[in-house]
Amino acid sequence: MLLTVKDIGNLAPDIWQITLSGDFPYETVRPGQFIMIRIGSGKEHILRRPISIAAVTEESLTIVLRVVGKGTKWLSERRIGEWLDVLGPLGRGFPNPPRDAKVLIVGGGLGVPPLYLLGEILKTETDKVDIVLGFRSQRDCILTDDFSRLGRLVVTTDDGSFGMKGNVIDAVDSLRSSGCRWEYVYACGPLPMLRHLKGYFSDQNVNGYVSLEERMACGVGACHGCVCPSEDRSLARRICVNGPVFPWNEVSL
Ligand SMILES: Cc1cc2nc3c(=O)[nH]c(=O)nc-3n(C[C@H](O)[C@H](O)[C@H](O)COP(=O)(O)OP(=O)(O)OC[C@H]3O[C@@H](n4cnc5c(N)ncnc54)[C@H](O)[C@@H]3O)c2cc1C
Ligand code: FES
Repeated sequence: MLLTVKDIGNLAPDIWQITLSGDFPYETVRPGQFIMIRIGSGKEHILRRPISIAAVTEESLTIVLRVVGKGTKWLSERRIGEWLDVLGPLGRGFPNPPRDAKVLIVGGGLGVPPLYLLGEILKTETDKVDIVLGFRSQRDCILTDDFSRLGRLVVTTDDGSFGMKGNVIDAVDSLRSSGCRWEYVYACGPLPMLRHLKGYFSDQNVNGYVSLEERMACGVGACHGCVCPSEDRSLARRICVNGPVFPWNEVSL
């Protein structure tokens, strides 16, 4: 489907937010789902690029992307009124927790945007959301004002230039030391962060869900280019169709 660029802006160095409008099943979008975007005419870049849906309304969706290569650079250079060829919404998103469950959201770097839609939905269903977002430095911090409206927010930076100095595990540990407990943890970010988080909660009775934003090729289950092993190593899981969101007990991180 073709969606029109309604708005595009720079959030931080190399990080762009794009809002798209047009004919799209916005009402079916689950937090954690993604779209596959054709780059250029499709001849020079055969593979579409997967980007998570950060926010959705009845008539638009918003994505946030970091420029890391040719595809994301091309996306960052779009102008209002141009159109993008998009497939979606794709993949399995975050499940809802039971009403009034105690929830922790943990995001790192570009893993933060897909959690915003989740936070928006949870805000209407529970007032017990704690949010921890980690960035390298103040210049990389994105969406912190938006998240601060969704629950109790702690921001960490590796260099201490904004919020608490340290990483997300330090912040989670500090909240836990002050008595916070959670029944559900939802996370998206770099693999080492997800691995440490899962390890941190391994001896606690917590339901954890992680979104794995690994490399993808076809995006629709056909090429097996995105497999990750299951926890017992018996079953390979395709991130594009079985995920990108998995119960953390289901996958080996
Ligand atoms: C389900 C899913 C959701 C995603 N959501 C977002 C999002 O919301 N915002 C966002 O900015 N990015 C997201 N990504 C990552 C994004 O798809 C890649 O950054 C993008 O495809 C890179 O394309 P490129 O042509 O710019 O770079 P390429 O030329 O393909 O690669 C440039 C460099 O980036 C690295 N790279 C490429 N893809 C990834 C990746 N998935 N993870 C880590 N490193 C990568 C390559 O190894 C290489 O070093 C998501 C990925 C997946 C699978
Ligand atoms: S990207 Fe092709 S099977 Fe997942």
